[in-house]
Amino acid sequence: MTILVTGGTGYIGSHTAVELIQKGYEVIIADNLCNSSESVLDKIAEITGTKPKFYLVDLTDKEATRKIFEENKIDAVIHFAGLKAVGESCLKPLMYYYNNIASSVVLAEVMAEYGCKKIIFSSSATVYGEPETVPITEDFPIFTTNPYGTTKLMIERIYTDLAKSDSEWNVTLLRYFNPIGAHSSGLIGENPNGIPNNLMPYIVKVALGELYQLSVFGNDYDTHDGTGVRDYIHVTDLALGHIAAIEKLTDPGVHIFNLGTGTGYSVLDIVKAFEKANDIKVPYVITARRPGDVPILLADPSKAERELGWKTKLGLEDMCRSSWNFAKKTLNK
Ligand code: NAD
Ligand code: UD1
Repeated sequence: MTILVTGGTGYIGSHTAVELIQKGYEVIIADNLCNSSESVLDKIAEITGTKPKFYLVDLTDKEATRKIFEENKIDAVIHFAGLKAVGESCLKPLMYYYNNIASSVVLAEVMAEYGCKKIIFSSSATVYGEPETVPITEDFPIFTTNPYGTTKLMIERIYTDLAKSDSEWNVTLLRYFNPIGAHSSGLIGENPNGIPNNLMPYIVKVALGELYQLSVFGNDYDTHDGTGVRDYIHVTDLALGHIAAIEKLTDPGVHIFNLGTGTGYSVLDIVKAFEKANDIKVPYVITARRPGDVPILLADPSKAERELGWKTKLGLEDMCRSSWNFAKKTLNK
């Protein structure tokens, strides 16, 4: 089976490409490299022994996207490509709406032209906005608080409408919670440009000595230690969730799943776990709450376990250890 992985040189896409290749799938990657590097292809080759075929393509470019389908017989698409920084999306909403939505529409149009009607889309827990209760099940109301989140919600709707209009489409919407960690080889991982916005990449930069200290955004939330609680999921477990979706969801229609662990950790839990797993200090200071943050986000992942036979296996220690292993091996050069 040949899978087109859009955004496949990115963080989650590269881990998924590795797992797919190791399970015998043929992987083709399409990426415009706006937030990743072509060198990731060599890392994938180093891990798996296979360098995936690569198309340097912006998915808003229909002709260039067509070429991929013209030259290959693609059975399914895992669509990771997109811009993902919440703060940036508030400053540059049109860039986010255009890039994320236009590329998703063009991709689906081209897929339909070539009779490829199976797509797995990277959605996010951000579509649950500020839920009134946790854990969150897939039938919770969806609404968003920033343009990035709105692109995810809109693409979910667009693909749902597509499946309604043509009963041959098989659409899977995977709502990721907080992916962290890196491949056990330390060769691929998360490598954001500039000063990170998200917790684990920030902790890593502090541990590397590149940033002075972590700001913990608020310790007056109604949580066990006052700091924000999230459902962190190891990126390798997340990658395996996509393979379960490819293999189990053979019926057409729209399939929606949370991918999370169901366990919540606070900011200070993460700091302490990172320090313990890696025997390194992470200096931090408590600061004001970050606008837009919610106290607790937690998945109910039981639908994925029931219907996909997928369950996370890697715990917090693995997440912290692999993040640091990647940082030492690959970032700190
Ligand atoms: P990433 O930035 O590492 O990877 C995304 C890739 O898409 C990058 O390599 C980028 O160059 C590429 N890209 C962006 N726009 C493109 C375009 N128009 N054409 C071709 N390539 C394009 O991000 P990631 O963390 O791997 O996230 C993958 C997907 O998962 C994204 O859609 C993101 O919104 C979603 N998601 C991520 C998280 C997270 O915390 N990382 C959480 C929930 C959902
Ligand atoms: C962020 C995105 C969300 C996306 C999710 C996926 C924002 C506002 N939200 O969620 O849309 O779906 O990533 O991974 O960016 N924290 C600190 N100090 C820091 C960084 C973070 O204390 O320097 C805290 C936050 O307040 C939060 C927790 O750490 O409680 C996790 O933050 P982060 O990693 O940014 O993820 P989310 O905000 O949950």
